[in-house]
This record gives sequence, structure tokens and C-alpha cells, in this order.
Amino acid sequence: MGSALPHDLRCDHRTTPLGVAGAPLLAWRLEGADPVAYQVEIDDLWSTGRVDDPAAISHLYDGPRLRPRTRHTWRVTLWDAAGSTSSAESWFETAHDAWTASWIAPDPDAVEHVDPPTEGDRALSAHGLLPCPQLRRSFQVPSAVTAARLYVSAKGLYDARINGERAADAELAPGWTDYRRRIPYQVHDVTRLVGEGENVLAFTIADGWWSGFTGFDPRRPGYHYGRFPELIAELHLTLANGSARVVMTDGTWRTAQGHIRHGDLLKGECHDLRAATPGWDSPGFDDSSWTPVTVRGADHHLLVPSCDEPVRALRELAPLSITRTGPRTHLVDFGQNLAGRVRLAVPAQDPGTRVTVRHGERLEDDGGLHTANLRTADATDVLITAGGEALFEPRFTYHGFRYAEIDGLESLGEVRAVVLHSDTRWTGAFECSDPEINQLQSNIEWGQRGNFVSVPTDCPQRDERLGWMADAQVFLPTACLNADVAAFFTKWLHDVRDAQTPEGGFPNVAPRLTGVAEEGAPGWADAGVLVPWHLYEVYGDARFLDVDSMGAWVDFVLRHNPDLIWRQRTGPHYADWLAPGPATPREVVATAFFHRSADLTARAARVRGRHADAERFERLAADIRTAFIKTFAHPDGTVSGDTQTGYLLALAFGLLPSSLAPGAARRLAELVHEHGPQAGFLGVNLLCPVLSATGRPDLAHALLRRTDPPSWLYQVRHGATTVWERWDGEGAPSMNSFNHYAFGSVGEWLYSGVAGIGQARGSVAYRDLVIRPLPGDLTWARASYESVRGRIAVSWERTSQGFLLDVSVPPGASATVHLPDGQTHRVPSGDHHFASVRGDTP
Ligand code: BGC
Repeated sequence: MGSALPHDLRCDHRTTPLGVAGAPLLAWRLEGADPVAYQVEIDDLWSTGRVDDPAAISHLYDGPRLRPRTRHTWRVTLWDAAGSTSSAESWFETAHDAWTASWIAPDPDAVEHVDPPTEGDRALSAHGLLPCPQLRRSFQVPSAVTAARLYVSAKGLYDARINGERAADAELAPGWTDYRRRIPYQVHDVTRLVGEGENVLAFTIADGWWSGFTGFDPRRPGYHYGRFPELIAELHLTLANGSARVVMTDGTWRTAQGHIRHGDLLKGECHDLRAATPGWDSPGFDDSSWTPVTVRGADHHLLVPSCDEPVRALRELAPLSITRTGPRTHLVDFGQNLAGRVRLAVPAQDPGTRVTVRHGERLEDDGGLHTANLRTADATDVLITAGGEALFEPRFTYHGFRYAEIDGLESLGEVRAVVLHSDTRWTGAFECSDPEINQLQSNIEWGQRGNFVSVPTDCPQRDERLGWMADAQVFLPTACLNADVAAFFTKWLHDVRDAQTPEGGFPNVAPRLTGVAEEGAPGWADAGVLVPWHLYEVYGDARFLDVDSMGAWVDFVLRHNPDLIWRQRTGPHYADWLAPGPATPREVVATAFFHRSADLTARAARVRGRHADAERFERLAADIRTAFIKTFAHPDGTVSGDTQTGYLLALAFGLLPSSLAPGAARRLAELVHEHGPQAGFLGVNLLCPVLSATGRPDLAHALLRRTDPPSWLYQVRHGATTVWERWDGEGAPSMNSFNHYAFGSVGEWLYSGVAGIGQARGSVAYRDLVIRPLPGDLTWARASYESVRGRIAVSWERTSQGFLLDVSVPPGASATVHLPDGQTHRVPSGDHHFASVRGDTP
């Protein structure tokens, strides 16, 4: 098997990040033999020395404070039992710690007067949206440049250019946070773009989440955080002669409106090429007619380095079909519901020709675009041509769509859908013998792509796209298998904590917007506890566990509900949202989550060594459980309300004693057998896991393969390419999204149930695996998962020789393998083959 090999080195859950703040977590994945010890070194600065820990896959830096804006090379060395060593190297760069640049923007008084954004019946070009300002500065560099770093952020969105080229591949940067609490900046390596002589640093800025349309509140559709976008940037140059130079935003910059007449996340974007300013971002351009910018202050205290990867354009789809639907109208079907935008090559036209691109997830019966479910999100991009050929791609908007209707052209040039999402590396793969389940897996993955856009959103198409917390919480286990979302959720947990009220209340949505209720609902707000705990279990990084924040939430609920049944301060109590069956009583849902949050806070306190807190929350969790049993559980194991979600929550959260749990499990099975799935957002992720854990994997499989509504495969049979908001896709168009991932949370069970990749209770970072494939009547399945420790893979097949199973266990881990015939094997790391010749059912 060779020696113990470290690979895929990461710093704070990212590969070679720029802008690392504080003490980073240095991590590696394992291949080959089990390690027995490790050593981590940074340059010649610091070393852990040899640490005898066979389980280690990371080390939290504990050396002297690192210098800002410095590249550090780090190395990890592993020893195996035979005494051989192997090393791997990577690097990271530390953050900026002393900004001096100013926030700049066009003079707001000089901007044509506009009314605040409204939803009135005004033309699209109105809505109160303003042209996107261009800002530029030319500067001289006396010698060659050996390193150039651009530190940049915006209140709004920015697109950076240097000497005529895009300076970064980040889209919709700096991303969305509650900008009243923190404003992330990015660091871009722009060394190859800057040289001796005249250089130009140029930006376009747009409203984005800062001042554009965000969410659905009709009273405040825009201006959630500010009125006009602003920019801040510092370009740090290291010159060949050894000197340094900084170019920064200040009063010397000049600005003008350009061809982007507006760019809004929900409304769409308009380019008027007749207003273009060619060469504006390159040397030699005469900007004497441009106006000086206004300096809007130099407050840096909210600036923080981004801790996640930005949104990027990560793939392109060619159309499946293009249909001419009118003399100058085409309907393009990309064959996949996605989030992103259309890039269109436009052949030469008469100047002033107007090309309109509208987007929709579906078609109406008459073949037209279905846009009713977009609500007030116009999702309409407009190009006004200047005569010659043009390439049109919006920059400051994105849409959720499968179809695009392009109006205004007799013939189209190349058309592509550009897929945008936060760049989370894909780590999982699942496939089985049923092609419809494989389509479901694909739908789940596309739902994840389309809804991980800077924050985890509910949907990418309508005027919502908010960081709804229950949606994120129920989908998280699936998300963690499909992709490495550690950095993405590190960032979002900042948003969640920023949104916590002084009283301890977590919200419904994070980042917080104005006009959205203060505390969240049961199962929504609780994501502030459930999400960090799950991330800790998957990634092993205890920094996810902010015990003060988690405990403040539990204490908040406790303060208002001293009798331990959660009835008061339930926010807008969404209960088991969109459950197709009878409603689960609100207090059952709420009290189950109260218990879950207290229980996980206790466990988090243990991990962080806060034993007194741990004991207090353990006692509280036990008392809530007692109150739950007394109030809602009956001697035959039934739970008040007698609903699937009631049983799912009670069983999954360990609320019932062993005398009652079997009765509850039996009743759950009866209800599932009789009605199919009746769970809404808060129960759906638990359906298959609880059924299989309570001895009814047959029913879990029956649900998975069911094709009548409500069911997952009903959606697949009806052409879904992403998971729908409602089980059956029926309902008022104003709330009927076709890309909502909550019901896709069954994805976790495809890996953990069907394929059988799971962690033992109490295991963290996949140290102790449970491999328990549940074949149902499928003939084969395989799944792989690039865990934080290394690769886990399972492949099984029913053959004439019986049930054959191959398992790969990463170094430093071990696994208990359960075969469907009841055999159990305990195995170390490595590749293992099993066969059960005695038939494959117990
Ligand atoms: C969103 C959800 C969210 C819910 C709260 C909806 O409008 O789209 O996904 O969780 O509101 O009930």
C-alpha cells in the first residue's frame, strides 16, 4: 500500500487562499498507509515537531502572529509505522491588516435624480435603477513588477479590470453579507496584468444586494443596506528593483457612466452599446471629460477578508434546441434548469436594435415562457446594439432558468448558458441501477449549484433568493457529501451570527435584511445550532462550534418558555412547511427542535471543553425530553398529532424512551405505507434515514421509487431537472419554484442508505465508518466521497454469485461493514472485498 501520503493540502478549508486572517487550520487528506505521526512547518518560522497522532488530518496554527500580506509556504510530513516519511507542500497568503484607501463613488448629487425603487408599472428601464458607474485611475510603474495583489471590495458589486483585461474571475463579488456588520474583501493575484510604464486600474460597480432589489418585501424592495454603490481598492505592487508601490482608491480617481444602463440581481441588466467608452480600462484613454469621484469616507472597521471561494462561472451549456417562434424571436432550451445567465453572440444589426432576453424555468401550454413564478423578478436582460457584431453577457445579475426567449434578432450567433455558483469543489458521486434515481441525484446536484450563490438560497428564480435557514439546515448533510462546503458555510455562519438578536434569537434568513421578522421559526432559527454541529461532525473543525452563540439561542427559547414546551416566541412559525398531509402540531415541532438545539449545544460545549455549560445544557435537554414525553407521547408510542413528521422528529432526535420508540416507529411505518410521504421541509430529510434505522429500509426504498405524487420520482417523470419546491409541482404560481432544494435532502440517504457510506455515532471527520448498504431491489449502486480524511468508496452488486461489495476506507480510519445478510466485519483502512453467498436478504 506504500507509505502514508498527504495530499490536497488546504488552509482554512481552501486551496492556496489569499487573505488568511488569524490562526489558520492547516489540513491534508490521506492516501496510502496509515500515518502514525505528523509534522507541520511554516517556512523556517515555525514547526509542530513530530506529533504522534495517527488520527490527525489537520493542525490549528499555534505559532507566533503571522505577518500581514505575506506568502507562507507550509509543509506537512507524515510518518508511517515502518518509519518512512513523505511530505507535501502548499502555501497561503495572509490578509491585509491596515487599509488606507478611501471608499469612492460618483458624486450622488450629480447622479440624475431618481425616486427610490418601486414595483409600480414603470418601464423596466425605470424601477429607479441607475447606470453602473465606471471608475478608473491610470498610474506609472517605473520598473518591472514581480508581484501585484489587488485588495478590493464594494458596497454593491464590482468588476475589476487592469489594462483592458478582467482582473479576477470572481462573479457577483464581494458576495452577500449583512453589510452593516461586515464587508468582505477579496485578494486577487494580478501580477501578470501589471507592467512597467502606464497602467490602468478600472472598475464597474453595481447595486447588487447592497442597493438593488433583494428579497420579496414590497415595502422595501431595494436599498436594504445603502443607496448607491461604492468601491474600495488597494493595488500593492512589488517592483523588480525591490521597492513597493500602492495604488488605492482616493479622490484622484475619475468616473463616468458607461454602457451598463442598469444591472440588478432580480430585474436583470441592460447594456446600451451606443454609450460604450471603448478603451476606458486601458492606458492611453483620455478621461478628461470624466468627473472626479467623491470620497465617501475611509472607514475600514467592517472590512474582513473573504473566507470562502467566490461565485464563479463554472460551466457552460449549449442549447438542447433553438426554436424560431416569431420573425425576430427564438426560444432556447438549455435542457437543464440552472442559475446563471445567457451569453449571446449578436450578428451585426442596425444601430439601436434592441435585443431582449427573458428567462423561465418552464413553458406554458402554448409554448410561451412561464414567468408567473418569478413574481417581481423581471429576469430580463436587454442589449441595445451600436451596429457591429457584439457579445452580450450580463455581469451583475443572475437568473434561475432552463429556457430563454430571445427577441429582436432574425438569427442568433452562438448562445450559451453560463452556470454561476459559489465555487465549492465537488466531492461526491452516486449512481445506481435505476436511471430515474440517477436523474434524481442529478436534480439534487443542480439544485445545490443553483442555490449556493454566495449564500445558501431557497431558490434562484423569483424575488426571494434568501438565505432561508431551514432549507439550509435540512439540505446540509446532502450538500456536504456532494461538495466540500466547509468554507462556504464558514462564511454563512458569520452571516447567521451577525443576524442573531441581542437577546440571542436566530433569524429565519441570513444575511439579515431589513423588513424581515426578528426571531426565526422552530427548525429555521435552530439552524444556528444544527448547522455548526453537522459541519463539525463532517469536517472535524471545532471552530464551527461557537458555544456562546448556540447557547444564547437555547437560553432565549428557555427564557420565554420556562415550562419547556416551546409555545412563545416562535417567530412566524412555519411548522412543517409544505407538508402534504395533516399538519404536525406546532408545539410538537417546536419542542422537538428546542430539545435538539439544547442537546447539540451540550455536545458542542463538551467538545470545546466547557464542561459546566455542557452539564447545564445536558440537564436542560433531558428536562425538555421529559416534558415532551409527558405532554405529547402516549403509552402506545403514538405522538400527539399522529403525523409522520411528529414521529420522524421524535425518533431522529431521540425524544422517546425505549419503551415508546418501537410503537412510534410502527405507527410511522403504517402512515408511510398508507399515504406515501407526508413530510414537509422539517421532516423530509429524516424520512428514509429514520425508516431504515428503525428496521424498515423496505419502506424507505418504496418511498424512493414511488412515482405517484407526492414523490421524488413523480418530479423526475414529469421532466424535472432540479428538485421542486412542492412535492407535486402544483400550486399558485406565486409560490411554485422548480428549483428549491429542501425536498432534495433525501440525497444524504442515497449515499448513506442505498450505497451505505456513513459515520458511527460519535465519530468525527469520518474516523469511524459504518458501511451498511441497503440494496432494496436495486441491482447495483456505487458512491464515492472525498471526505476530509481521504477517499471513501462503496460499490455493490447483486450477481449470480451473491451480493458483492467493495469498500475503500481512508488511512487513519476503520469501518464496521454490515452486509445485507447480517454478516458484520470490522476492517482497517484500505480496500476490502466482501461477498455474501448466503443470499442477500437477512
Ligand atoms: C421560501 C422557503 C422558506 C419559507 C419559509 C418560502 O417563501 O421559499 O423556502 O423556507 O418561505 O416558510
